[in-house]
Amino acid sequence: MSASNGDPIAPHGGELVDLRVPAVERQRLRTYAEKLAAVTLGTRDLADLEMLATGAFSPLTGYMGEADYVRSRDEMRLASGLPWSIPITLGVDEATARRLGRGEDVALVTEDGNRIALLKLAETYQVDRGREAEAVFGTRDEAHPGVKNVLAMGPWCLAGRVMLLDDVPGRTFLNYPREPRQTRAQFRDNGWKRIVAFQTRNPTHRAHEYIQKAALEICDGLLLHPLVGETKGDDVPAAVRMETYEVLLKLYYPPGRAMLAVMPAHMRYGGPREAILHAIVRRNYGCTHFIVGRDHAGVGNYYGTYDAQKLFERFDPAEIGITPLTFENTFYCRKCASMASYKTCPHSDDDRLLLSGTKVREMLRRGESPPPEFTRPELAAILVRAMKES
Ligand code: ADX
Repeated sequence: MSASNGDPIAPHGGELVDLRVPAVERQRLRTYAEKLAAVTLGTRDLADLEMLATGAFSPLTGYMGEADYVRSRDEMRLASGLPWSIPITLGVDEATARRLGRGEDVALVTEDGNRIALLKLAETYQVDRGREAEAVFGTRDEAHPGVKNVLAMGPWCLAGRVMLLDDVPGRTFLNYPREPRQTRAQFRDNGWKRIVAFQTRNPTHRAHEYIQKAALEICDGLLLHPLVGETKGDDVPAAVRMETYEVLLKLYYPPGRAMLAVMPAHMRYGGPREAILHAIVRRNYGCTHFIVGRDHAGVGNYYGTYDAQKLFERFDPAEIGITPLTFENTFYCRKCASMASYKTCPHSDDDRLLLSGTKVREMLRRGESPPPEFTRPELAAILVRAMKES
């Protein structure tokens, strides 16, 4: 499982993909790209492009062709058989697909006209986005934010290898590692061999902290790895969350045991299927373990509390490679006078501090801090202030 360079874990598929054009060739290819047919990328396409180009989506080397698309949609595998739970496609309308020829080089363009990448168009094919939504999210309900995004994608896919000519625009938090090569290098420097990743799109509440620290008891280091791409409108903005993570690490984590890095992906709210993708991506970032708690990457009531954990059982652990560390629903129990879970606490729900995300958001909006047993007061202050300013 370890990589040939001595890293504790090899990337998914064996090699860390790098789709950035070397600096010496950039100018020539930029000039070449000026003459090509162009396709404009949306925010989520750009996030996928960055994930592809930096190897976070290894072994993918571009937006998926039909064989990978169909198998990942129906069987959670690439055509090669490697696990891959969510299709990654570039969707366009029929007219765009028809005006482009197979084998053609296409320029991928940002909304303000910058030709930032080349696509070697290997295939164009038509898909049924409704069927895709049903397979990936288990529903076609447009009230589901991931479904809404998939249904909004063009029904034709442009597939092929991509080459990145320029930095993806709008990148944020550039002082933090954001690429697999950067986190892997840092893990080597730290001498960490067992590294646990924590995916999050929320501020860190005490339950998050508890499971991170429980995992740290058996690992050398924690990668606190917030997703900073697009999230749904009522999630706490990434900039506010980053402030809370910084404060938390400074005040409550031992130096040298935890590190903050960002993941530029957008949130799909795909529950179980997204948990598998999140795990594979963290393997690419060099992590050996991955935390999967209650309703991972879930939204509303679409998924069962432990469905994401159960989905890992459908794969041979060796083919996913990164080890899931699963946690029960955790909370503060007044009788235990500590954080606990249904696995460790004998008391009743009356003794437990069980607050829903919606309830916490309402409190913050009213300018009230959640109880300290739910959110550290230093973090609550940041969240209350951010709510006031928004
Ligand atoms: S997620 O969409 O990124 O999964 P969130 O940031 O809330 O949302 O969760 C990050 C991780 O913590 C996920 O693995 C999730 O399952 C887990 N988690 C969140 N809250 C709890 C809790 N109270 N008990 C156990 N696990 C939790």
